[in-house]
Amino acid sequence: MKILVTGGSGFIGSNFIKYVFSKFSDSEIINLDKYSNPNEIDNLEEFEDKDQYKYINGDFANSKIVENILEKYNPNYIVNFAAETHVDKSILFPKEFIETNILGTFRFLESVNNYFQHLQDSDKNQFKFIHISTDEVYGSLTNIENPFQENNKYYPNSPYSASKASSDHLVRAFHKTYNLPTVISNCSNNYGPYQSLEKFIPLIIYNALNKKNIPIYGNGEQIRDWLYVEDHCDAITNLLFKAKPGEVFNIGGSNEYKNIDIVKIICNILDSLVPLAIDNKKESYCSLITFVKDRPGHDTRYAVNSSKIKNELSWEAKTKFEVGIRNTINWYLNNRDWVISMAGEKYIDWIKKQY
Ligand code: TYD
Repeated sequence: MKILVTGGSGFIGSNFIKYVFSKFSDSEIINLDKYSNPNEIDNLEEFEDKDQYKYINGDFANSKIVENILEKYNPNYIVNFAAETHVDKSILFPKEFIETNILGTFRFLESVNNYFQHLQDSDKNQFKFIHISTDEVYGSLTNIENPFQENNKYYPNSPYSASKASSDHLVRAFHKTYNLPTVISNCSNNYGPYQSLEKFIPLIIYNALNKKNIPIYGNGEQIRDWLYVEDHCDAITNLLFKAKPGEVFNIGGSNEYKNIDIVKIICNILDSLVPLAIDNKKESYCSLITFVKDRPGHDTRYAVNSSKIKNELSWEAKTKFEVGIRNTINWYLNNRDWVISMAGEKYIDWIKKQY
C-alpha cells in the first residue's frame, strides 16, 4: 500500500508512520508536512534513508505541491492529520485555525478529489481518504451524560473545535457530492511519546522535571478520556482496511480521568522514578501543583463511546492508562535531547501566557 500522510511529522502523524512501518513491511509512505524548525529533532529521522519513505516539506493547502505529489506517487490511501490542534492557541490566534483547518482542508480536498475523479475504476475502488478529527466537535458533557456517539449533534465551543467541525462537514460534503471515499474519525485526547510540550501531559512531565509550577486550569475537575497514541494508530489502520466510505467512527480510550487526578498520578510515578529534592529536602512533585485562572469556555468533560468501531471493525483500545502513562513518562525521561530541542521559545511563550 502507498499512503500519503499529511502532517506526518507531528505527534500522532509520526507515531502513525512508525506504527505502519513496524507492522506492514511492504508499505510506502509519503509524508507532506510543513514542519520546518531546524532546532527541533525530526521525529522521523530514523527513516531518512529508507527507500519506502519520502518526506516532502510543504503545505497541504498548496494545490500545486499536492497535485504534483499525487501525480508522481499515485497513493491509494490518504491520511489527513494536518491541522492546528491546540485549544489554547486557538483562543489567542483563531485566524490560523480557520485558515489551516477550514480553508486548508478545503483546498486539500479539492486537489485530492481532482486526482480521485481521474483514477481508473479499479483504483477508485481501492482508494480511501481518512480524515483525523476530534471528539471536541461534539462540545462538552456534564458528568452524568452518556459519552459521545457518532450521531451526537455538533456543538463546538472553541475556535479549534469549531474549525475541526467545519472541516468534518467539508469532508462529508465531498463524499456526498462527489463520491470521494472518505472516512472521518473523531478521537478522544491522545497521549504518548512525541507529544509537544504545550499539551497537558507533556507539560506536567516537563514542568515537574524542571521544578516549575504545574498549572491546573480552574479547579482541575474537568474530565478527559485518554487514548494511548499507539492504540489510536492501530484504530486508523483498521479504518484504512475495513471502514466503509462515508462512515464516521468515534475512537476513545475508555480512560476517563479528572485533570487533577492525572497530575497526581504523574507526580506519584515521578516521585518513585526520579525523587525530587528542594533545598536538600525530599519533596513530592505534587508540591509544584498550582491552580491558575481557568481557560475561557473550558469544556467540562469529553468521553467517547467506541461501540461502533468495536462492533463493526473489532477494534478496541488495549492500553490501560496505568501502563500507557508509565511508557510515556519513561519516554520523556529517556529522550531529553528531544525535549530540549522542543523546549524553545515557542514553549516558553505558552508558559508565560495569561488569559
Ligand atoms: P489539552 O492537552 O490542551 O487538550 P484539550 O484541551 O484538547 O482537551 O488539555 C487537556 C486538559 O488539561 C484540559 O481540560 C485543559 C487542561 N490543562 C490544564 O489544566 N493546564 C494546562 O497547562 C494545560 C495545557 C491543560
